[in-house]
Amino acid sequence: MIKKKLSIRTKKQGAIINKEIYGHFSEHLGRCIYNGLFVSKDSPIPNHEGMRDDVVSALKEMGIPVLRWPGGCFADEYHWKNGIGTKDERATMINTNWGGVTEDNSFGTHEFMELCRQLECEPYICGNVGSGTVRELSEWVEYMTSSNVSPMTDLRKKNGREEPWKLKYLGIGNENWGCGGNMTPEYYASEYRRYSSFAKNYGDNRLYRIACGPNGDDYNWTEKFMQMLNPFLTNAIALHYYTICHGDWNNKGSATGFTNEDYCSTIFHTLRIEGIIDKHLAIMDKYDPEHRIGLVVDEWGCWYNVEPGSNPGFLYQQNTMRDAIVAALNLNIFNNRADRIPMANIAQVVNVLQSVVLTEGAKMIKTPTYYVFSMFKPHQGSTLVESELEDTFVKHEGGDFAEVSVSASVKDNALNITLANASLTNTYSLDTDLDEAYACWTGRILTDNVRAYNSFDNPNEVTDTVFKDCVLDDKHCTVKLPPCSVVTLTFTK
Ligand code: AHR
Repeated sequence: MIKKKLSIRTKKQGAIINKEIYGHFSEHLGRCIYNGLFVSKDSPIPNHEGMRDDVVSALKEMGIPVLRWPGGCFADEYHWKNGIGTKDERATMINTNWGGVTEDNSFGTHEFMELCRQLECEPYICGNVGSGTVRELSEWVEYMTSSNVSPMTDLRKKNGREEPWKLKYLGIGNENWGCGGNMTPEYYASEYRRYSSFAKNYGDNRLYRIACGPNGDDYNWTEKFMQMLNPFLTNAIALHYYTICHGDWNNKGSATGFTNEDYCSTIFHTLRIEGIIDKHLAIMDKYDPEHRIGLVVDEWGCWYNVEPGSNPGFLYQQNTMRDAIVAALNLNIFNNRADRIPMANIAQVVNVLQSVVLTEGAKMIKTPTYYVFSMFKPHQGSTLVESELEDTFVKHEGGDFAEVSVSASVKDNALNITLANASLTNTYSLDTDLDEAYACWTGRILTDNVRAYNSFDNPNEVTDTVFKDCVLDDKHCTVKLPPCSVVTLTFTK
């Protein structure tokens, strides 16, 4: 057992942790939209307006504050007018990025907004800058948000929606350094200004405009974009960072069959995001010292080789305790930068990459990552407080890293602490000072063999349970974290 000191200073308060840090991403990719979120209305799978009841209720229970759509690379070739009107009016297209399958556009703007209504979450629309036009994006915003007498408003009403929707989050392009047009940052920054100028605020709807930001550690992209920044047209830039075992995109390894060395490499590569975020923020500081522009992390998570036998273009992967640890580490990192990170969206919500739920026909399972999001839910909308942990850095075959991670927040006189122990062998005992006295605590723990996962035959192999290893005495507590565990604690007075 390794003993370490932890101090939680509730009087040293930081920013509000935006609930959107717990955001998700859905793309027309594999079985994310079709069969994952959406089935036809006459499907035997229970649904409302085509939205799967089991998935909607699981996501609501977990707490899904915002959902990004329609991509991803798919957004870079999406023409929204193909996805409105009657079935006959909807043109088909080839999904060139993801398996070359035919997209029938039966899930479009109205369906997405209905999904968000059922989920009670904010919609986050990603516009097509790669192969679209300024007019197309401008008209899409008008279609969704205007109540004026206008051609787009009339079209929306003709399609059955009288009132405009509220739309806050608008992405102006996706990965325009890659699948979104292979642009240089200078070229994209000019395009951004044009597209963004014509994405208007109608009535009292106020857009929060998000620019395509860097690919991982591409600091040049951030520098060049920020040099050409128009702060009146930009609220945030979006970083994409995927966790790749051994950093090898050509062989990303199996989601379930991995060695301890692979595990350590995964943890090492996931934790790289912390330094990457801080470097981008330092660049942004030079051009935006008042911190008006946020850094959204709208694609993050583990990306492995697809499950054997599945379509390589569908990016379907299982999800183990390794993913749970990755999720907890990332969420603690985002929480601890709540002043600069207004939103983050794990990729992707159902059946694609690091999902929170998986489906197979009428069956649905919750992944270990699901339980982490659910355990971290109390942080949504609470105020970050300072946490200081003694160094837990350890050298490993595969990658060296600090084994324990923490973030803490307060809301309504309750203190929430989330902890992850990424070690496969070490138990940590955290000798914790609280700067206020608490009378009661409750806790949940997620822990299992690192390779454990939920399958359709064994859906409850990994679930959170009551945590018992905390001894509270007024302003002090001792918390025992077993190897490979995620713990959430709530203290009340
Ligand atoms: O999430 C899968 C893909 O990863 C997205 O379509 C793209 O934006 C990124 O490269």
